[in-house]
Amino acid sequence: MRRLNVNLPQNDYPILIKKGLFNNIGEEIEKIHENKKIVIVTDDNVEKLYGERIKAHLGNDFKMKMIVIEPGEKSKSISVLQYIYDEILDFEITRGDLIIAFGGGVVGDLTGFAAATLLRGIPFIQVPTSLLAQIDSSIGGKVAVNLPKGKNLVGSFYHPKAVFIDPELLHTLDKRFFYDGMAEVVKYGCIKDEKLFKDLFSYSEEELFEHIEEVIYRCCYIKKSIVEKDELDTGERMLLNFGHTLGHAIEKYYKYERYTHGEAVAIGMYRITKKSEAMGMTEKGTANLIKDMLCKYDLPYEMPDIDKEKIIEAIVFDKKNKGEYMNMVLINKIGKSFIKKIHRKNIFSYI
Ligand SMILES: NC(=O)c1ccc[n+]([C@@H]2O[C@H](COP(=O)([O-])OP(=O)(O)OC[C@H]3O[C@@H](n4cnc5c(N)ncnc54)[C@H](O)[C@@H]3O)[C@@H](O)[C@H]2O)c1
Repeated sequence: MRRLNVNLPQNDYPILIKKGLFNNIGEEIEKIHENKKIVIVTDDNVEKLYGERIKAHLGNDFKMKMIVIEPGEKSKSISVLQYIYDEILDFEITRGDLIIAFGGGVVGDLTGFAAATLLRGIPFIQVPTSLLAQIDSSIGGKVAVNLPKGKNLVGSFYHPKAVFIDPELLHTLDKRFFYDGMAEVVKYGCIKDEKLFKDLFSYSEEELFEHIEEVIYRCCYIKKSIVEKDELDTGERMLLNFGHTLGHAIEKYYKYERYTHGEAVAIGMYRITKKSEAMGMTEKGTANLIKDMLCKYDLPYEMPDIDKEKIIEAIVFDKKNKGEYMNMVLINKIGKSFIKKIHRKNIFSYI
């Protein structure tokens, strides 16, 4: 078992990572939760695969209710949130009870936001089941729902009591979603961990699964270390956005239909690095290393043939980019990243 601790001024919680951990989930929860009422929120795909098993592993000691939502980003909405509130209240939950977010990032963000706001806060734990959720969204306390005007516009910082990660659950994850998560794994290598980057490049598919516990651990270690330094995302946490400024703009341009988030970020990481390399800010050959890695994990790198003005417009109107200057995350070389403040009118050179 690998264990990390997220140490924050108001919160301190463990991240446990182990193949097969899911089978012992009841015991792990009993260590941190005394009351007997538990609500599990999951989506239809995860429920079909693991719904009966999670109930069995929790055992008969708990009084349980399972809430199942439709899979996909559309569920991260105010109307589904309202449905979850109603279902939880019907179960007569109190602030001493527990909510489990059991699923990918959609379930995690939505359930976390419901837990943060209902009755002014109910404890919750994350049992992430997608690669993206296991290495990224379940850690760091960002919880949110989307509005028709944009993604994650209503949200909060609310940390779970614990994160239980079982990489065995990834075996049932659709390949496209697995590679989608791999884009963020590659990102961690690019911004903070050259060894992780090199390892990822050397692994065969079989070896990647052999070492998946270690890979997840290293990603979680980077994320939790950055979050500890900058919980509220005003400084170093921005490094986690490497490739994201351009990635978000590409996703938005295609109305979230053509590229997954990871695919768009992959294009963003390569493109930005190619540009920063040409401007002499990044060691020569770095963009090619990223390109080779992205090809290995079935991710795109080439900028689609779209109107650059439209992309810049999407970046400039991003809710996160206010003011005359904006922050761009660049890398000096693999494993070493920095934040560059650039004037809005110069953004053209970086895209
Ligand atoms: N809070 C944060 O810090 C943070 C960070 C990054 C992303 N996010 C959010 O995460 C969301 C994306 O998360 P995601 O990629 O996990 O998407 P997702 O939750 O939609 O899961 C992807 C798909 O995989 C299925 N699935 C999940 N686990 C499975 C398993 N073990 N076996 C089979 N199928 C499984 C789901 O049903 C879904 O169809 C976005 O809403 C994004 O905004 C949040």
